[in-house]
Amino acid sequence: MSQWDAKDAGTARSQGVAPIGSEETAASHRGIAPGKRIAVVTGASSGLGCEFARQLDGLQVADELWLVARNQEALAEVAAQLDTPARAVAADLTSEVDIASIRTLLAAEQPRVTFLVNAAGFGKFGDWQTISDAAVDSMIDLNCRGLVDMTRAALPYMERGGRIIQVASAAAFVPLPHMNVYAATKAFVLRYTRALRWELHEAGITVTALCPTWVKTGFEKVARTSGGGNDVGHLFGAQTPQQVVRRALCANKARFAVACASPQSAALRLIGKVVPSCITMAGWDALRRL
Ligand SMILES: NC(=O)c1ccc[n+]([C@@H]2O[C@H](COP(=O)([O-])OP(=O)(O)OC[C@H]3O[C@@H](n4cnc5c(N)ncnc54)[C@H](OP(=O)(O)O)[C@@H]3O)[C@@H](O)[C@H]2O)c1
Repeated sequence: MSQWDAKDAGTARSQGVAPIGSEETAASHRGIAPGKRIAVVTGASSGLGCEFARQLDGLQVADELWLVARNQEALAEVAAQLDTPARAVAADLTSEVDIASIRTLLAAEQPRVTFLVNAAGFGKFGDWQTISDAAVDSMIDLNCRGLVDMTRAALPYMERGGRIIQVASAAAFVPLPHMNVYAATKAFVLRYTRALRWELHEAGITVTALCPTWVKTGFEKVARTSGGGNDVGHLFGAQTPQQVVRRALCANKARFAVACASPQSAALRLIGKVVPSCITMAGWDALRRL
């Protein structure tokens, strides 16, 4: 957390705010007049998260945007481009301490969370031997645990009409050798999102899993920083973040469970349902070598 944010979180702690998710916090939030409307976007310093922040700004869904990622400078740059007041919340979402600080911040401010986008995430190319243990653990921590923690932190502050977009990937539809852990984390996100969506139906909160194929963001640069970084050749048909985010927001507004955002992703979704995994994996193995 940044010094500024840590100060806020520290104030909240010293005020004896109840931990989020406790009966007291959730009940007092629902019973008392709601605070300002906020939209929370993780991974907002770059790529899809940054574009979500921009488009949510244009849609005026909140009085304040909370932009979450590790790079405070980049977050501040994004914040400066927005019309909606934006708060740079510098946090490493693989860190339990930073997640706890975000919970404390929410408890101190008692906002109404109108929108949550979980876009923070990364992947690595390479087979199991070429990706380090640390990178694998971090991928699981960020893509799965961080996403679940942020969702559970925000939910007590969401009301009927609230919206959640979980950034998964078309990699969720099929197992992918040479991206095995990444694809598995995205399958986790898709399954988690679908079941949560079912649970939240009565509460009027719409949850959508965004499952794009390749997108032109910082993803590729990070994915290639492993021993097997060139195991995946070309990112064919990469879309712009603008197009993917526009489609994701439309799909969420239409209350779709899954936003594919491209015909290729829709095709993969169908293939994942009807074609045996050994065949899809053979097809992927040929494609990735091109
Ligand atoms: N690009 C694609 O081809 C593609 C396709 C399908 C799905 N996706 C998914 O889309 C999501 C967004 O990725 P992107 O394509 O926009 O890539 P990106 O440009 O690299 O953005 C990744 C974001 O995650 C943040 N992040 C990374 N590690 C973090 C950590 N430990 N704690 C907090 N934030 C962290 C980064 O910010 P900091 O470095 O400042 O922390 C950055 O804002 C990911 O979940 C990715 O799996 C991407």
